[in-house]
Amino acid sequence: MQILDMTPEHLEGAVEVIRVHSGEFFYPHEIASARARFQSIIAQRLANDGDARLGVAQPRQVVGVEDGVVLGTMGYVPEEGALNAYQLSYVAVHPDAMGKGIGRALWEALEHDLREQDARIVYTWTSPLSYTERPRRFYESLGFRCACILPDYWMDGDDLAIFAYRFEG
Ligand SMILES: CC(C)(COP(=O)(O)OP(=O)(O)OC[C@H]1O[C@@H](n2cnc3c(N)ncnc32)[C@H](O)[C@@H]1OP(=O)(O)O)[C@@H](O)C(=O)NCCC(=O)NCCS
Repeated sequence: MQILDMTPEHLEGAVEVIRVHSGEFFYPHEIASARARFQSIIAQRLANDGDARLGVAQPRQVVGVEDGVVLGTMGYVPEEGALNAYQLSYVAVHPDAMGKGIGRALWEALEHDLREQDARIVYTWTSPLSYTERPRRFYESLGFRCACILPDYWMDGDDLAIFAYRFEG
């Protein structure tokens, strides 16, 4: 499997990986939001000629690809009002490919990239309820820790759990 920056040829495969988890981890309206985010990131990277940073942190979305098929995706978005802080975005592995190390490989590519950009902290948003046990275990295995709980954020009775990964100074 290769970890690649998302390009137009990966777009629909990456959206499909979000779509298969909709209803469980993503709201149905997030399918369109994911496509719009991915298109924006692809356009931005093409405009920047791939890797120019223009002095400003850029969002990034990578895909795990095998034989031309997108098996998973993960991205980050800079927190514009914070110093060297980022939020993970659209983290998903196709159900047929889960538990095979793809999520970890996607994270390791982004972690390496963020470290080179002097990232200080990365946040990811989830919930403490049982339906998120798999992603919480996943984030904890990568070194993320629950930083705070915001009551009733997602809906009454479903809190926001913000997990944070700290880069060592
Ligand atoms: C969460 C998710 C991205 C993990 O991707 P994955 O490819 O299945 O994870 P990996 O195989 O790379 O596992 C990495 C680590 O996570 C942990 N992990 C993964 N699934 C786990 C599970 N069901 N129970 C316990 N630990 C688990 C393991 O400790 C594993 O560590 P290892 O590498 O030492 O074995 C994937 O399960 C997924 O797409 N889930 C649905 C969408 C989702 O929840 N997105 C996040 C929304 S907040």
